[in-house]
Amino acid sequence: MPLFERIREDIDSVLDRDPAARSKLEILLCYPGLWAVWFHRVSHMLWRARLRLAARCLSQIARFFTGVDIHPGALLGRRFFIDHATGVVIGETAIVGSDVTIYQGVTLGGTGKGHGKRHPTVCDRVFIGNNANVLGDITIGENSRVGAGSVVLSDVPPNSTVVGVPAHIIYRNGQRVLITDPHDVKDPLSDALIALSARVEELEERLGGERKPVDKFTAEAAERSAYREELGRLAEFVSMGEGI
Ligand SMILES: CC(C)(COP(=O)(O)OP(=O)(O)OC[C@H]1O[C@@H](n2cnc3c(N)ncnc32)[C@H](O)[C@@H]1OP(=O)(O)O)[C@@H](O)C(=O)NCCC(=O)NCCS
Repeated sequence: MPLFERIREDIDSVLDRDPAARSKLEILLCYPGLWAVWFHRVSHMLWRARLRLAARCLSQIARFFTGVDIHPGALLGRRFFIDHATGVVIGETAIVGSDVTIYQGVTLGGTGKGHGKRHPTVCDRVFIGNNANVLGDITIGENSRVGAGSVVLSDVPPNSTVVGVPAHIIYRNGQRVLITDPHDVKDPLSDALIALSARVEELEERLGGERKPVDKFTAEAAERSAYREELGRLAEFVSMGEGI
């Protein structure tokens, strides 16, 4: 695709995705995240032509002007949008699909342990909230969303939302996912949680198998989730009414 067609496509996609964008001229002049992607296309060409030092120098010039540090070896798909730009870091072996949106402060980085492919693969239409860290040779599946401030250390299936440090799935295929089993919590505190829950179970057994508090917690969480869904439907209904 010719260079100017690609630029037009990028600008149109920002107009679609950012409600703050008012005109194509504004996008051309005021979106350093786009400039960073355009710089990257040139530095990536230099990288592939084995002009490695020139490619690295150009990517550092881009970083100076945009605050976005993209290694020239990274593979970026079409209509990639980095909103607010500053502080984004994308590593050498990262692969980003089409129509991906990321916000300021996102890192697609390595864990510091591996060689070879050591950065994430982000599939089509993924959304990554500000200051999220996606680390290691993991895959974020299509249409998935990563919450602001999350640290993602393992694969995320398609159509999922993950949040937290380390990140856990909270939505999958539109359905809320509730963690009620401490074995599903994968962080440095899991062992303590599992031991605590085993101890509670043991005490409950001693008291005659009373499991009410845990059941009550699960029911409350499900009730809150249903309430939130109902509110969402109401808000949609009201906005439809405003549109008439
Ligand atoms: C992850 C995200 C996409 C989820 O949005 P959503 O589908 O509307 O999810 P909800 O608001 O229903 O949240 C579901 C649960 O996850 C929690 N949660 C949501 N985002 C979270 C986050 N970033 N970190 C930790 N927990 C989060 C909520 O508190 C809620 O928990 P609860 O059910 O125990 O109360 C959104 O919260 C987010 O982080 N968006 C990024 C926005 C951003 O980067 N903006 C930058 C503007 S400059």
